[in-house]
Amino acid sequence: MQERSDRMRRSGKTIVFVPTMGFLHEGHLSLIREGRKLGDDLVVSIFVNPTQFAPGEDFESYPQDLDRDIALIRKEKADLIFFPNQKELYSTGFQTCVSQEKLPKHLCGLSRPTFFKGVTTIVVKLFNIVKPHIAIFGKKDYQQLVIIRRMVKDLNLDIKIIGGQTVRESDGLAMSSRNSYLTPEQRPVALALFNALNKAKALLADGINDAAKIIAASSELIKSHGNTVIDYITICDPETLEDMKIIDRPALMALAVNVGKARLIDNMLLNPK
Ligand code: PAF
Repeated sequence: MQERSDRMRRSGKTIVFVPTMGFLHEGHLSLIREGRKLGDDLVVSIFVNPTQFAPGEDFESYPQDLDRDIALIRKEKADLIFFPNQKELYSTGFQTCVSQEKLPKHLCGLSRPTFFKGVTTIVVKLFNIVKPHIAIFGKKDYQQLVIIRRMVKDLNLDIKIIGGQTVRESDGLAMSSRNSYLTPEQRPVALALFNALNKAKALLADGINDAAKIIAASSELIKSHGNTVIDYITICDPETLEDMKIIDRPALMALAVNVGKARLIDNMLLNPK
């Protein structure tokens, strides 16, 4: 892959990179389509990264369908599909990681304290292998995007990071590979996340800008769906991810909720009038 990337770079091509963990859905495909427009050679990686899963999480059961993924990526006319195996990326004796001080200590990082260290490490590794000029990450994983932007800045990586829009099912559920864990009974319950975000938006439009009140109303709405366990609901600064008490400037509302076996996340930017 490094040799291929060197060749592409030598011939003056702009390399665009979309890293994924596979089991692709429309959200990934929209990133790939966006990537197609931004450069010459488009590389999509598929790698379920073990270091971003903690013991007891769904690493072993993470959904996979490589043949289907390859067919979907080919249809989008990507130039290269990179699917390394675990041993190639984490050889015996591996011990070097990239970790960040503050941003991972919010939102998902509170209940998944080792997650972002795994993400930043694998993303730097993939960047060093694929050598892209541009890389695209979905905004559904908002915290991941902010952390990667920060890492690229802090480590002077010469890569432009693009955030791709969240793609939703027709009823509003954010697309996620983990939606495949939802049973038919749980599927309508999963909409609680999007409904809670919209409730927050409506309350803000009605002049309520007290974050605690909005969070309480959203939490109540989610609990009313039953069969949900809230991990967090936060209203925070979109860049530092520090909690905001009053929404007197653009804020990020982000939440993670377990619906059965599926840990779902979603977010929305809230703009006061
Ligand atoms: O967002 C994902 O799918 C993963 O976290 C990523 C960026 C591919 C790293 O494993």
